[in-house]
Amino acid sequence: AQRRAVNEVLGPLRLTHADLEKVQALMRQEMERGLGKHTNATASVRMLPTYVSHTPNGTERGDFLALDLGGTNFRVLVVHVTEEGISMASEIYVIPAAIMRGTGEGLFDHIIDCIVDFQTKQNLMTQALPLGFTFSFPCQQVGLDKALLLTWTKGFTASGCVGQDVVQLLRDAAQRKQHSGLQVVALLNDTVGTMMSCGYDDPKCEIGLIVGTGTNACYMEEMRNVGTVEGDQGRMCINMEWGAFGDNGCLDHIFTHFDRVVDETTINPGKQRFEKLISGMYLGEIVRQILLVMTEKQLLFQGRPTSKLQTRNIFQTKFLSTIELNGLALRQIRTILNELELDASFEDSVLLREVCQAVSLRAAQLCAAGLAAVVEKMRENRGLDRLSVSVGVDGTLYKLHPCFSHNLQKTLKDLAPNCDVSFHLSEDGSGKGAALVAAVACRTASGGQ
Ligand code: BG6
Ligand code: GLC
Repeated sequence: AQRRAVNEVLGPLRLTHADLEKVQALMRQEMERGLGKHTNATASVRMLPTYVSHTPNGTERGDFLALDLGGTNFRVLVVHVTEEGISMASEIYVIPAAIMRGTGEGLFDHIIDCIVDFQTKQNLMTQALPLGFTFSFPCQQVGLDKALLLTWTKGFTASGCVGQDVVQLLRDAAQRKQHSGLQVVALLNDTVGTMMSCGYDDPKCEIGLIVGTGTNACYMEEMRNVGTVEGDQGRMCINMEWGAFGDNGCLDHIFTHFDRVVDETTINPGKQRFEKLISGMYLGEIVRQILLVMTEKQLLFQGRPTSKLQTRNIFQTKFLSTIELNGLALRQIRTILNELELDASFEDSVLLREVCQAVSLRAAQLCAAGLAAVVEKMRENRGLDRLSVSVGVDGTLYKLHPCFSHNLQKTLKDLAPNCDVSFHLSEDGSGKGAALVAAVACRTASGGQ
């Protein structure tokens, strides 16, 4: 009876091959709509043009500043791209929650303060190095150095920014702070930075994937298919913003009670619905909601929830990674539970692991369904029977979770059997990528190719 009750709770989280094929087909449909000139406005996957038309060719050179905003850490970097390769120095700066959710002026002033601090420490105050800005939020890009913020995601709400050109917001702050040596040449999404940095070592890398605080992907699309930009020649990198997949209701059939509760308690209910099934910012909360229901049904903790378990965000996604570690003694799981003031029995620990596995497996499978739609589209675009392509990946969940990447790759093979896809972890991807995009921008500006 206990087993049946557990299955009843976890059943809706378990997706069949047919369910995943349907998600893949829906993603494909939303991609087409997002790319279409007339259908773009109503598509949940925005398919944003990035004005990045080439992956790196290895001839990029120079010294650059880079900013990386929107993941777990805000970083300022100096990147040297030389014949011998890429080297860099970086510093992590904290963005306090009050600044994330305060005013836009406050946020960008803070960013300038961090840049000044970094330049001072690195002895770079006298040089006006070109700057590439990795800004990991949806932007309507008008050119490489002009990008209007469409909406905040992942807990940011700084006022007065939506609809504004983010590069201009940074330049305005520099002016307010009388920092005259700032030369912003490019703004890019983290997916693009990740693809570019992997592309520097592997010319087959034409997809960027992030599975971290948020999730998103970009890939090289044929210009002839991009209805939202003039021109038919060559390719352009498209920032899919797939986190918003399903915001128009097309995924309602797979959302469970837990997903709905998690969505309702975020600061952006109804938004980023696909992301809320997959990324690090939300998985822990889904697990916590399941634990609450299981406790209520007397399946866990002898039916006694603690006030801690009722606290939002108490169950961090990194716990999932620890709990699912192969060979981790159940004793260690109990230690985690004890931190939540839950007196866990042996059976409780076993069940908790099963819950975490169900949630993270579904996340990896959904991510694979999205990626399958991308690689199949690329294969068809190029009229190939088989496509061989690489994906540059970054993000804490992908990097730290013991089974996510395995589950992702296995499911992708099932869903896109005609594509050979290899995954490369990107180290410092966004920083390197920002420098490479800045390098291309400088080269084009000086009349080169
Ligand atoms: C980092 C990149 O490594 O990964 C960031 O430099 C990116 O640009 C991030 O946003 C995504 O992962 P997380 O887990 O930090 O959100
Ligand atoms: C969110 C952002 C997106 C970013 C992703 C990963 O989905 O909207 O721009 O790429 O998180 O960081």
